[in-house]
Amino acid sequence: VTEAIRELGAALREAGYTADAVRRLLALESPFGFSPRELPLYLRLAGGGSPLEALVRLFLLGASVPRDALPLLPLVPGVLATDGDEVRALVDLAPADEDVLLACDRGEPNEPDQVLGFSLPTRTLGRLPTREPIGSALDLGCGGGYQAILAARHAQRVVATDVNPRALAFTRFNALLNGVENVETREGDLLAPVAGERFDLIVSNPPHVVSPDTDFVFRDSGLEGDSLAEGLVRELPRHLEEGGFAHVVLSWAHGPDERASVPVERWLEGTGCDALVLHHASYDPLAYAAGWNRPLRFDPAAYAAALDRWRDYYRRLGIEALAEGIVVIRRRGGSGSRVRTISPTPEEIGLAGAHLARLLAAFDVLDGDILARPLALAPGHRFEQVGPIDGSAPPRTVLRLEEGLRLEVEVDEALLRLLAELAEPRPLREAIAAVAAQAEDASPEQVGAALLPQVTRLVELGFLAA
Ligand SMILES: C[S@@+](CC[C@H](N)C(=O)[O-])C[C@H]1O[C@@H](n2cnc3c(N)ncnc32)[C@H](O)[C@@H]1O
Repeated sequence: VTEAIRELGAALREAGYTADAVRRLLALESPFGFSPRELPLYLRLAGGGSPLEALVRLFLLGASVPRDALPLLPLVPGVLATDGDEVRALVDLAPADEDVLLACDRGEPNEPDQVLGFSLPTRTLGRLPTREPIGSALDLGCGGGYQAILAARHAQRVVATDVNPRALAFTRFNALLNGVENVETREGDLLAPVAGERFDLIVSNPPHVVSPDTDFVFRDSGLEGDSLAEGLVRELPRHLEEGGFAHVVLSWAHGPDERASVPVERWLEGTGCDALVLHHASYDPLAYAAGWNRPLRFDPAAYAAALDRWRDYYRRLGIEALAEGIVVIRRRGGSGSRVRTISPTPEEIGLAGAHLARLLAAFDVLDGDILARPLALAPGHRFEQVGPIDGSAPPRTVLRLEEGLRLEVEVDEALLRLLAELAEPRPLREAIAAVAAQAEDASPEQVGAALLPQVTRLVELGFLAA
């Protein structure tokens, strides 16, 4: 069977079964634009006779397909079944980002142990780690194993854990399908399967939703309030090698008038870790409950009951605001901890390992003598001028990062002059002196004092780095 699964992966790649090809065929506006309600439309769009269309009908649309319409595929038991000359798939098998093929359970979640496929949080999380060679990685709550498969491409060994044995079976299957040999699966609750072990990289998209329910193992941890988030943020540092990174998708409660990062700062105290809170959004309890219960909205009675149940739960726990985001933790030794919040748009985030490394290095740059630091504009930066051609309003200049978190800031004329001096690494003091020399009546001290707050912000956001 093992060899047949590898051959199945090779045959799908050979047939051009890629995320782009599927998106084009089904006219999807985004990788997550697939809607089960559009099945009749999709079946017609994929109704031609090409092998790619047959694969889409078989593996994404749940249709039976004549065997001779398909490319030559090994009939892996549990995955493909035959009925006379027809073949049907027993699972969904979708091409995801970065050429990963991902099998998962078919259809909308309705079973408690359902294993889900590729989603926006899955993709966003997968884009955060660097692809630098490392020794060991942990994917905690691995589901279908997307994070483990990405990690296996640059880590010597990967441990993938889950409480759901079906998820581990999917991870093992998907690893083989993608030609990955170095993923070990372990069953167990949260960090229990890796007690006493440390990793260079931890990635986790755990069942982080703060909910009173225990309907779905992928969504509900069964733990009270946000204690899953608290427990992981407190415990993960112990499982990181020095210099190691953890990236974890979380939801947590915070005071309605308090910065969302305040609880994370408290949980990290004394751990010797720095952290970035990639804060996607905060919601009031009703909006949060509505968001997570969207699948029920076609059943008004069940939807109303869920909204009341969830709202009562938050009232009982005194929860007034709920944050969603990804916490990036880096272990650096010592006992202090520093935390900064950035709010990128999840849909925009690109491969961000290098950008996150700059953001974490920024803590030391800003705690030291910044004027003595050689700084330069980061790779992937672009300037853009926006304004009317007739000069009726002054143009605005926007500085963007086309890589990483894809942030943007507006810069003024004075800052632009300084940034022009920082195309190559150069001590900030020297660049400020060069700008002052071009000005008629400003000393380096005056230029420095005027620009330092903006330079600090650019370092904090990773536009300028040492
Ligand atoms: C939101 S899914 C994420 C799946 C996958 N890692 C991804 O990024 O798409 C959460 C996963 O955590 C698993 N899980 C739930 N409770 C767990 C626990 N107590 N310990 C470990 N894993 C758990 C679920 O079975 C599910 O596979």
